[in-house]
Amino acid sequence: MTPFAGKTYWLVGASHGLGREVARQLDREEARLILSARSEDALQELTQELRHATALPMDVTDTNAVAEAARDAGPLDGVIYNAGAYEPMRTQDWDSGSVLQMSDVNFTGALRVLGEVVPGFVRQRRGEITLVGSLAGYRGLPASIGYGASKAALISLAETMRYDLKGSGVTVRLVNPGFIKTRLTVKNSFRMPQLLEPEDAARHVVAAMRTRRFRTDFPRPFSFAIKALHLLPDLIVYRGK
Ligand SMILES: NC(=O)c1ccc[n+]([C@@H]2O[C@H](COP(=O)([O-])OP(=O)(O)OC[C@H]3O[C@@H](n4cnc5c(N)ncnc54)[C@H](OP(=O)(O)O)[C@@H]3O)[C@@H](O)[C@H]2O)c1
Repeated sequence: MTPFAGKTYWLVGASHGLGREVARQLDREEARLILSARSEDALQELTQELRHATALPMDVTDTNAVAEAARDAGPLDGVIYNAGAYEPMRTQDWDSGSVLQMSDVNFTGALRVLGEVVPGFVRQRRGEITLVGSLAGYRGLPASIGYGASKAALISLAETMRYDLKGSGVTVRLVNPGFIKTRLTVKNSFRMPQLLEPEDAARHVVAAMRTRRFRTDFPRPFSFAIKALHLLPDLIVYRGK
């Protein structure tokens, strides 16, 4: 018997990359999954491969679609918000459409989904919230307009919920990955330290979900280096830059 057996999780951002692997691994652990993303075909294909999964296509940038999907999802034991959009972008190359899309998917989409499920979790005094952030949310990094700020906002949101929901029966988890080999990172032309396969990254997410620990940053030691950068004074970080 696994800790996930028979529990129902709404996995948002399940069609590709990390989310698809998390779905596969939770399915092996006998979780019941409701899988959302925009790509209906990819979701249907995945549900056929899995034992206990239902596809619930949805665009997280559409408030009505999220509300409708939440109603269709029914009672939940947990939600995993993994939807993400990323375009590498320097401030000088500002593309407003892309920046707003990243913000809408990575942060405001999470607000839409959480707004549908958190009140019920609070009333029932039970429920699991797992948010997939990014190590890129810890400090403003170069060429990360839109992405970095939206992930920083998600981290801040998780930290607030962690304070407020302590002792409420509702578990809040924040999982911040480093680089994962997905369609998002093929856009990067720079060297990505400790680049993980999606299967390995998913193992970190599922391991985090076995515990009540609030924060999981991975992989080490890259996550330590990024957090050390966060702690350093500006005088050192921006020296010569
Ligand atoms: N790859 C990395 O190096 C890395 C590092 C740190 C954190 N992360 C985070 O990990 C998560 C998964 O990313 P990934 O690398 O696996 O990328 P991915 O393969 O592109 O997966 C992103 C998922 O989000 C869904 N999504 C995007 N826009 C959506 C929308 N408007 N409505 C509903 N779903 C939407 C996508 O499905 P559809 O396109 O079908 O809608 C897909 O299922 C993201 O939150 C990302 O920020 C990734």
